[in-house]
Amino acid sequence: MSEENKLQGCAITGVGSYVPERILANAELESMVDTTDEWITSRTGIKQRRIAAEGEHTSTLATHASRRALAQAGLDAAELDLIIVATITPDMPFPATACLVQKELGATKAAAFDLEAACSGFIYALEVGRAFIASGIYKNVLIIGAEKLSSIIDWEDRNTCVLFGDGAGAAVLQRRDGARGVLATRLGSDGNKADILAMPGGGCRQPATVDSVNERIHFLKMEGREVYKAAVNAMTAAAKEVLETSGLSIEDIQCIIPHQANQRIISAIGSRLGAREDQVFVNLQKYGNTSAASVAVALDEALQTGKIKRGDKILIIAFGAGLTWGATVLEW
Ligand code: ACO
Repeated sequence: MSEENKLQGCAITGVGSYVPERILANAELESMVDTTDEWITSRTGIKQRRIAAEGEHTSTLATHASRRALAQAGLDAAELDLIIVATITPDMPFPATACLVQKELGATKAAAFDLEAACSGFIYALEVGRAFIASGIYKNVLIIGAEKLSSIIDWEDRNTCVLFGDGAGAAVLQRRDGARGVLATRLGSDGNKADILAMPGGGCRQPATVDSVNERIHFLKMEGREVYKAAVNAMTAAAKEVLETSGLSIEDIQCIIPHQANQRIISAIGSRLGAREDQVFVNLQKYGNTSAASVAVALDEALQTGKIKRGDKILIIAFGAGLTWGATVLEW
């Protein structure tokens, strides 16, 4: 399938995604922590998530997704000018996971760097990649959202371990004069609330020590209710802003792709925006929250299942640690 959509001077010419084979269903989590399928389903909508195999890293998932996106674009990796990997679970603190993907793909002339905006990472990468193309600096950019969240989840903490999964999504952006595409984007952040969703250990503030490992600070920590409220408010506001900037109303949007974190968050945003249920794409029941991969995997599935057609207007909205958020309206 050749999905050539239009951006302003920049087209998304290929989209691809990859999730690991191993399925971890709610029933299995019942035997790991004090939880139930009923609790997880009613509070989040998640039924199962994918978990990377041993030896399968963020770069591995990213490479699989990228090959699919490149194949759809009909572009040789050697033609790439830039690779951006959005992730909070890099293979290593350095070098950048993007460099590992660059090697795997054989993207010999590409610059490569990682971008860290947590669950908003793919929208951030889209805007950065688009800006490089719109400015005339690059012609072919590969953006990837990829996570192996299973590596930073505390599998003894029922508050968080039921929510997340592994996966990757990628898109090829190419220079196409006269293309429309991204109609409006809004990115935002609020470092005042950096502490409500974070992995405290492993950076220069609290490097790994025997004590830090014993204190379990190398795992994701979250104040769920605070994140919930901030997510609904920020995503709704950003979505309203990009609709207004692009001169569209919610009825003009054929497909809304929200960050796949929690069905209740998605429903709250949908109702505040006045969206119909059938406008909103949801696949979190299968994958849980895959952070930077979330909207990229959902975009690929929406395309694969015919939910998006040429000329459709798409609203993508994300929110994550930082805090960060972003919304973008695309014309496909
Ligand atoms: N199974 C059973 N009980 C649980 C579980 C579980 N897995 N997890 C928590 N509980 C218990 C709590 O311990 C608490 O018990 P208590 O009342 O005895 O203390 C009770 O359930 C209620 O907990 P709450 O936190 O009040 O439950 P809430 O309805 O807020 O739902 C949830 C929790 C699902 C985490 C919700 O707050 C949420 O979705 N927050 C947003 C989280 C999120 O999406 N984060 C990621 C977005 S940003 C990003 O993607 C990076």
